[in-house]
Amino acid sequence: MGRVGIGAAVVVGALSVFTYVRATRKIEAPYPNIHASRDLAVIERGQYLVEGAAHCGECHGAKDPPATSLRGRPMTGGKEFHTLIGTFRAPNITTDAETGIGRLKDEEIARLIRYGVKPNGQAALPFMPYANLSDEDLTAVISYLRTQKPVRSEVADHDVNPLGRIVQAYVLEPKGPTGTPKKSFPPAPTAEYGEYIAHNIGNCVMCHTKVDMKTGAFAGPTFGGGAEHEAVGNPRKKFLSPNLTPDPRWGWLQGWSEDAFVQRFHAGRAHTDSPMPWESFQGMTADDLRALYRYFKTLSPAQTGPDPREHQVVLTASNP
Ligand code: HEC
Ligand code: HEC
Repeated sequence: MGRVGIGAAVVVGALSVFTYVRATRKIEAPYPNIHASRDLAVIERGQYLVEGAAHCGECHGAKDPPATSLRGRPMTGGKEFHTLIGTFRAPNITTDAETGIGRLKDEEIARLIRYGVKPNGQAALPFMPYANLSDEDLTAVISYLRTQKPVRSEVADHDVNPLGRIVQAYVLEPKGPTGTPKKSFPPAPTAEYGEYIAHNIGNCVMCHTKVDMKTGAFAGPTFGGGAEHEAVGNPRKKFLSPNLTPDPRWGWLQGWSEDAFVQRFHAGRAHTDSPMPWESFQGMTADDLRALYRYFKTLSPAQTGPDPREHQVVLTASNP
């Protein structure tokens, strides 16, 4: 009995060391040839993306004092994400040389955003869906980041639990871009550009599609909705994301004109505690919103998600 116990302990011990080593393994990925620019038009484009559709501040913005939207705050980080596999914290991405990205080279930031590989060579958590940003847009984002004021603010490391180590070791593979990202993708009110925003900038797809919380893989029809999201500041209250496909029965946008869609975004938040970053999206141009609307029209209809006929009741599933 004793010997079996010791044997088992040795095996478990060896496995956990192995898991730890694999979880912290270095990943190979190239450094993109991307360099910050001082051109004002480039910086302005970067600001439009960072503060707008890409909503970087909603995760990286200073979390004190608490507020529903962290947009427009210094990006000192600290916001916590409590998940099944551990507690993760958004880092400080101001230009501070010690606690922010001042210490990182443009290529290191570009590799992280495009290939999901951190400056230390480890896989980044899949929080940021910007792998397919065009070279020009990635340049614009980094150029704008470089114009921020440095703010010294230490953020604690992530707390990864044993399940998290296993996920990091065996499940988490940085995705990287699909194909070669475009050099340039100029905005236009087309379905093609809408797809670019929905998948690669606004992250609409990750919230409006059911996702397996352990692996991050899609677990329902694309844009079929029905994914549960915690209300801001109240983990026990859940929102269900609407189905954005053009299904005549289940599509949330049935009956919305393109103009109504644009106006809905420019009007901003309706639910005070919805996790959707409405404040960031509110700044999108009408053309970008038209592009999104036109893209959603091209999706395959899905018969899932909260029932559009019971608007208020089904949207917020409150579990006291
Ligand atoms: C949904 C939340 C979320 C959004 C939105 C987000 N980030 Fe992050 N970001 C994170 C988390 C979490 C990490 C830590 C990842 C890790 O350690 O694996 C991170 C890490 C980073 C890092 C690495 C910093 C370092 O010191 O290593 C940079 C740079 C960064 N993000 C930039 C951005 C930019 C630019 C945007 C917008 C285009 C953005 N992030 C949007 C959550 C987010
Ligand atoms: C962090 C998760 C999240 C992200 C990212 C997100 N959504 Fe949502 N969305 C939700 C949730 C939850 C709701 C329901 C609560 C609400 O209306 O705010 C919602 C509601 C909506 C609605 C219905 C609003 C209404 O008044 O009935 C539309 C349209 C929408 N989202 C489109 C988008 C688009 C387009 C994007 C990307 C640019 C996007 N969402 C990104 C979670 C998200």
